[in-house]
Amino acid sequence: MASITLRGVSKSWGDVVGVSAVDLDIRDKEFIVFLGPSGCGKTTTMRMIAGLEEQTGGNILIDGQDVTDVDARDRDVAMVFQSYALYPNMSIYENIRFPLRMRNVPRQKQDAMVREAANMVELGDLLERKPKALSGGQRQRAALARAIVRHPQVFLMDEPLSNLDAKLRLSMRAQLKHIQRRLETTTVYVTHDQIEAMTLADRIVIMNKGKIQQIGTPDDVYNDPANVFVAGFIGSPPMNLIPGTIGKNGFEAPATKIKGVKGSGNVTLGVRPEDITVAKKGQSHIKSTIYSLEPTGDQTLLTVKLGNQLLVARVDRSFRQQIDTPIELAFDLERAFKFDTASGERIRS
Ligand SMILES: Nc1ncnc2c1ncn2[C@@H]1O[C@H](COP(=O)(O)OP(=O)(O)OP(=O)(O)O)[C@@H](O)[C@H]1O
Ligand SMILES: [Mg+2]
Repeated sequence: MASITLRGVSKSWGDVVGVSAVDLDIRDKEFIVFLGPSGCGKTTTMRMIAGLEEQTGGNILIDGQDVTDVDARDRDVAMVFQSYALYPNMSIYENIRFPLRMRNVPRQKQDAMVREAANMVELGDLLERKPKALSGGQRQRAALARAIVRHPQVFLMDEPLSNLDAKLRLSMRAQLKHIQRRLETTTVYVTHDQIEAMTLADRIVIMNKGKIQQIGTPDDVYNDPANVFVAGFIGSPPMNLIPGTIGKNGFEAPATKIKGVKGSGNVTLGVRPEDITVAKKGQSHIKSTIYSLEPTGDQTLLTVKLGNQLLVARVDRSFRQQIDTPIELAFDLERAFKFDTASGERIRS
């Protein structure tokens, strides 16, 4: 069991800044997910926690102890990678046992530990096989068992599910969450998949360009985004972000007029697809025509054009209309967000 603290942690290579002044308190037993686009510094931050990469600034503490001078192998963290990294010539049993041998765990304890870890990921019947005789999902579970087997203080997982097909990813995701809750091992998990982040995390750390944008529970980052980057990154389909201006007539943008919106100047209005409804004539905020309609069974996605921008609404699953039909839409303004268009920061007034 362990807490992890990052104080002003930075990493640069010459002029290249990978991670910039990251402050973060990860609680004991917490499942933390680093989420952000490619190159935002997720893996680098994780590797610094593991001790595989030395920070160029700041401090990292595990359970209150500064680990800057502690070797990777003495940090008691276990990593799981996207690539499984199993030894092809060893059986699954030997692969899972490997970390115990490396750490000189007494031999008579090893067998029970291997079987316990294998059972936890439901590989108990496949221990004699070689990795090449397993499916992708089974290999990933073997990699997980190898991390579980020595009961480390911390799990670090870097996109562990991204090699799996969509369906398998869903079931592995649920298993992973279940196992983490049972073991209560502090976990840092890296992904660029926002659904994975939302479903797994106690708290999500959203990063962009080496900097933390927001730290919060899935509900926090969805319902109360700190800036336009977070607003646009969380949610599927993403939040509609409409650049416009606020004047004495309220908010205005192409095909869009909303009276009574407070503020002034260049403002981007953010509205989620589920907070837009088809409106009666004269009670709408948007007048446009249907650009496309995408029924998916449980919902229908309706797209209209505002100037040269598309706006997506999630409407009733039975909604059907032809393309090019005129349509009026209304926003749930209680659930709309305002952002300063120049800085991207949230405007809360
Ligand atoms: N050894 C290195 N030398 C120079 N720059 C590096 C090095 N390693 C990483 N970087 C840069 O640091 C930034 C952060 O990289 P990192 O691997 O942490 O990104 P990431 O968020 O994990 O991205 P991805 O989702 O693609 O894995 C990137 O711009 C990357 O090019
Ligand atoms: Mg990475």
